[in-house]
Amino acid sequence: MLGRLAIRQIPRYYTVSSRLINNSHQLSLRNVPAIRRLALVGLRRPFHSSANLLHRTASAEHGMATCGNPAPAFKFERLPTNAEPTHYDVRLSPCLNQFSFEGLATVDVTIKEATDVLKVHAQSLLIQSVSLVANSGDAPKKLDTTYDDKLNILSIKLPSVLQPQRVQLIFKFIGELNDKMRGFYRSQYKDKDGSEKFLASTQFESTYARLAFPCFDEPIYKATFDVTLEVDSHLTALSNMNVISETPTTDGKRKVVKFATTPKMSSYLVAFAVGELEYISTKTNSGVEMRVYTVPGKKEQGQYSLDLSAKCIDWYNEWFDIPYPLPKCDLIAIPDFSMGAMENWGLVTYREIALLVDPGVTSTRQKSRVALVVAHELAHLWFGNLVTMKWWTDLWLKEGFASFMEYMFVGANCPEFKIWLHFLNDELASGMGLDGLRNSHPIEVEIDNPNELDEIYDSITYAKSNSVNRMLCYYLSEPVFQKGLRIYLKKFQYSNAVTQDLWSALSEASGQNVNELMSGWTQQMGFPVLNVSQRQDGNNRVLTVEQRRFISDGGEDPKNSLWQVPITVSVGSAPSDVKARFLLKEKQQEFVVEGVAPGEWVKLNSGTTGFYRVEYSDEMLTAMLPDIASRKMPVLDRFGLINDLSALLNTGRVSIAQFVQVAASSANEDEYVVWGAIDEGMSKLLACSREMSEETLKSAKQLIVKMFEKTGAELGFAEQSGEDSQKMMLRALVQARLARAGHQPTIDKFNQMFTDFLEKGTPIHPDIRLATFGVVARSTGKEGFDKLMNLRETTTFQEIERQAMIAMSQTPEQPLLAQLFEYGFEKNKVRPQDQLYLFLGTGSTHMGQQYAWQYFCEHIKEFLEKYGGANSSLFQRCLKFAGESFGNEKRAVEFQDFFCNCKDLTDTDRQTLARPIGQTVEAIRLNARLLEANRSIIENLLKQSNL
Ligand code: BES
Ligand code: ZN
Repeated sequence: MLGRLAIRQIPRYYTVSSRLINNSHQLSLRNVPAIRRLALVGLRRPFHSSANLLHRTASAEHGMATCGNPAPAFKFERLPTNAEPTHYDVRLSPCLNQFSFEGLATVDVTIKEATDVLKVHAQSLLIQSVSLVANSGDAPKKLDTTYDDKLNILSIKLPSVLQPQRVQLIFKFIGELNDKMRGFYRSQYKDKDGSEKFLASTQFESTYARLAFPCFDEPIYKATFDVTLEVDSHLTALSNMNVISETPTTDGKRKVVKFATTPKMSSYLVAFAVGELEYISTKTNSGVEMRVYTVPGKKEQGQYSLDLSAKCIDWYNEWFDIPYPLPKCDLIAIPDFSMGAMENWGLVTYREIALLVDPGVTSTRQKSRVALVVAHELAHLWFGNLVTMKWWTDLWLKEGFASFMEYMFVGANCPEFKIWLHFLNDELASGMGLDGLRNSHPIEVEIDNPNELDEIYDSITYAKSNSVNRMLCYYLSEPVFQKGLRIYLKKFQYSNAVTQDLWSALSEASGQNVNELMSGWTQQMGFPVLNVSQRQDGNNRVLTVEQRRFISDGGEDPKNSLWQVPITVSVGSAPSDVKARFLLKEKQQEFVVEGVAPGEWVKLNSGTTGFYRVEYSDEMLTAMLPDIASRKMPVLDRFGLINDLSALLNTGRVSIAQFVQVAASSANEDEYVVWGAIDEGMSKLLACSREMSEETLKSAKQLIVKMFEKTGAELGFAEQSGEDSQKMMLRALVQARLARAGHQPTIDKFNQMFTDFLEKGTPIHPDIRLATFGVVARSTGKEGFDKLMNLRETTTFQEIERQAMIAMSQTPEQPLLAQLFEYGFEKNKVRPQDQLYLFLGTGSTHMGQQYAWQYFCEHIKEFLEKYGGANSSLFQRCLKFAGESFGNEKRAVEFQDFFCNCKDLTDTDRQTLARPIGQTVEAIRLNARLLEANRSIIENLLKQSNL
């Protein structure tokens, strides 16, 4: 077991600082979100043979059949284009006691080509009748239907061939308020008296509007919607638009709430919410009514998001130069929510933890995440809602841009978070972590069957797209980038677009061929590493730069991919300036940087704005070390350099000893993010050492104590006045590392803080709380475990609940872990949306890893059932967590074989899961590889360190 290789990035709302969770033993490959179809082929030869590597590459990249069997021949079909909806009138009458709803949907359809059949999506609905009105005023005529349950398509037989014309389809149906967090579903919570309550809300993206009413459920079919909800009188009913009327039913028990007509929009953006809700409200400067809705008792925790969202709407109005078109925008916190948040137009839904903040209790990291999530969803109101991708292949057009805009907004409006520093780790490094795998996929990813969709909401679609946008923004300059986006949004508003349309708009704004520059980044998977060497020529420095695809295992790129790489250069005499700019187009090119003194260092990728890594000659790297040590080199560059080195560890091109040397020269480092990059390398050292021998592990720990001790002593545990928001996070990181390295005084101090908190009520600073819980769980056995369990049971605050759970999952004692899993999964004491946290800390011990894997294997059937199938992203995350910390070939094979032979999976499931499985297997092999490449290096390093 080599610790967490985190392939599937836990999306941001989920994340706790991953560093604080597993960091000691993790080989973080970081953040791999869900994935797509890929090979599970053979791969049984010994790890080292390079022939095997090529074989693996070829099969992985050609997406060959799974488990040696040909993939099932299921032919996916989209709706035919002979008809399109223009308007829907949707009336739903949900019953929160019976978990069901009755519905009536009238759809105005334009027939564009003569046809005798119309097709719409519907799923898990009991269709009572379908009728047609061909000419207004005619009596509705009942029609026959057939249903394809693989495609979720209802085919409606028309009475005769109808010529192009407008018709109305009327559907009467009954649906279920399910508990799978998709479609129109129910959430459960306890009110203040402890009694069980339900609310109903929706999650329609990507393909779940069809669970609530029959519709043309593809993003291209934009229409207007009139929504009417009939609900119990004491409940609040919400939808995308403002209420235009509320009428009691004749018996007075229910009320009929009608909402204004929406703008033209795609079906996945429709939303409803019904329940006992309370709210706080404000108005934007532009006059939009903003509200935050919660279940009773929590509305005050919405204040932070409410204020920020109002500011955000005004800021985007200006930035995009298009005013938000609806009169209102509600943000609602939903107790059961599978994703982080969802950008329904006018009714944005969030999981509670992604929206609600308690100023004294929420950690800085979590608060900044709330700011990012709020800004992300509101950016979608333009990128996604106003302009929508034609098909899911271009999903990045909304997710990548909403992700970039969230940083633009938070960077400009919440300077206290220093968010661009975090961007590097959370986005750039995360995107590269996944994209360095052979089982990655291009940003523009072919989507055939939307069943594959959940798994492309991943670090490629989010973090890589985001980073590539940032790179382009720097390359074109922000004003030009903004101008291009404004052109794009205006041109395609209330309509749909493809990636090429965006490049055209940016080309128009910049006068450059943006398509030529960018298509390599969005159409090829992977990214380049630049190999640089130099020679001095008088007063000039001549750089030789060669590009090749960065692959985490250090192997060959079967495709010989090339990118157009925007290169910036900075030099020792002016570290913060961009001294020169080049565009690398060929495999290898020479560039001359003028006016560089001999001996002066030269660094590429100034400000780490590019989505590529750089590998320097020894001479070039050594020249930079003094300015890393003195922090004369800017922080974004220090991070980039160290993170590149840490990534190169797995390729075998940089050794752990070289990394430790650079880390040692960073003894005066004072920035949290840079320490994070150093710490990650240290966790790789520990992970490998643990596999070697007890003795080696002990020495490695001693080395780490030696390296971190001074900083730990200087930082102490308590917040000092005048510190910035990063200091407490740094303190938590360094002290947690010392504790994991077995530094007893640090462990004692953490345990004391926990005891004082429980016994005397002495508060633990929110930013060091998870670190504290973790130490307690790892070092105090059943006693600490029980206290954490009690805390989880009694706290009403979600972040604390989650942190206690993550901490408990790091227990080194199997009976306690078994107790935790039983509590969370079998007794269902943990909401399904949060159950993946139980896997999160298990990678920190061999026992935990083994337990989690075995548990997953034994309970896969229940997992599939609970999360709604193999395409559920929650299911896929559990799958990855269950395996990715393993570190040897045997485990890689075992992992793969399990899915090939598992009786609870269908061939379609196997197809859906091929990429997540492929990525996890690759991650396990990378762990193994790191160890083998560094065994003797580590032995020597530890011998020479005079411990
Ligand atoms: N549109 C997504 C939500 C979504 C994701 C729906 C996957 C269906 C499938 C939303 O805008 C989003 O991106 N949410 C993120 C949080 C965000 C801050 C990155 C999420 O839920 O992970
Ligand atoms: Zn999004």
